[in-house]
Amino acid sequence: MKYTVMHKNIEVADIDIDEEVGVIRKVNKLYDKKHLPLGIDVKKGIVDRAALNEWWKNRSIPDSRSGVKTALEKLGVPNTQVLLLRCNGLSLSDQYWIRPDGSGAKWKDINFFENDFSEDVGHILVGHDIKGRKIDYSSPDNSSDGFLEKRWIIENGTRKLLKSGSSPFRQQPFCEVIASSVMDRLGIPHVKYSIVWDNGKPYSICDDFITKETELVTAWYVSKTRKQDNSTSAYRHLLNCCDTLGTRNAVHSIDQMLVLDYIIANEDRHMNNFGFVRDANTLEWIGFAPIYDSGSSLGYDKLTSQIISGSNVQCKPFKKTHEEQIKLVSSFDWVNFDALDGVEDEIRDILSSAGEYADETRTNAIVYTVKKRIGELESLAMEKRNIIDNIEDDVAEDIAENYGMKFDM
Ligand SMILES: Nc1ncnc2c1ncn2[C@@H]1O[C@H](COP(=O)(O)OP(=O)(O)O)[C@@H](O)[C@H]1O
Ligand SMILES: [Mg+2]
Repeated sequence: MKYTVMHKNIEVADIDIDEEVGVIRKVNKLYDKKHLPLGIDVKKGIVDRAALNEWWKNRSIPDSRSGVKTALEKLGVPNTQVLLLRCNGLSLSDQYWIRPDGSGAKWKDINFFENDFSEDVGHILVGHDIKGRKIDYSSPDNSSDGFLEKRWIIENGTRKLLKSGSSPFRQQPFCEVIASSVMDRLGIPHVKYSIVWDNGKPYSICDDFITKETELVTAWYVSKTRKQDNSTSAYRHLLNCCDTLGTRNAVHSIDQMLVLDYIIANEDRHMNNFGFVRDANTLEWIGFAPIYDSGSSLGYDKLTSQIISGSNVQCKPFKKTHEEQIKLVSSFDWVNFDALDGVEDEIRDILSSAGEYADETRTNAIVYTVKKRIGELESLAMEKRNIIDNIEDDVAEDIAENYGMKFDM
């Protein structure tokens, strides 16, 4: 069936979608190259269909989402790309959608920022039963990314994302709150998370940080805007892309993110777990997105003894270990270590609400880890300051080399 890829009210390109499987079979007319999703190549006026399909697939709920197989059975759809068609591909993180040919649908009447949406799909995705009524599929949950069970709700007019944790410790929601507290103290712009309980399970809850005028473009798509050559590191490549695009303050914002991730031993900061916000109308860059999704941290899936030993901590997105990755930080001067005093008590407080999911020894292990990592970071910051400030090895007098004399000798 024929659709038009839309960016708010702008027609971007006509496409054919195979509705049985939700795959883009053909890209027809391109109307507006500038408004194509970022990172999708156009050669001689022809849109890279494989890249557009990858973008479309990435827009759907990933196959790895916890509980998605059962949910699809209940929803009666064969895969998550077909589910995505049922909400016109609309999202609460950006402004793209697809308009069925001849439908005359208008963005203002159907976007989820201004219009109500059904919570049916969300309920099914987190394992609730909605037996006995017809499912209303118009939901931003059809386009939500990530592994964890989650659903969007509207509370007093505000769009909020509820996100669960994984068995057995269900620690991620609490880690989100701990990360929020660390970032509050260090002045790092972030999404604020708190805890709510539903059916005996903890969820993190946060406000949508995107509005109907803005959109999130993850680092993954930013990094697709240039070709990475073999001699350029992942970090440098991303910064090069940021330079070309003119996103603002990338170095400092990434410094802040890497410092946070070191403190909380974050294991899942992949390129879709951070990004940049742009104005969806003018395409101007607003800046680095407030830090979100810091939950896969502080040994969220590990035994208490493993949290204490600190072994096997994965690291993303630039280096394989946090010890290597933290070396990318260009300046620690902004880190106010005094502001972290007392964070232990706050962590204990947060985890005291976790009930059976965090007993005293686990809480102690988490507090111990954070303290240890802050201590390590402080030493690193001192070393770096010493490197910059150390005058012992400064040249005595900055006099130009006298080559003439050298040759005379
Ligand atoms: N507060 C938010 N506002 C807008 N979009 C969000 C928000 N939080 C997350 N997202 C989007 O939803 C996706 C999934 O959320 P995330 O927190 O990363 O879940 P997971 O932990 O399952 O990976 C993110 O990659 C991002 O695109
Ligand atoms: Mg994520």
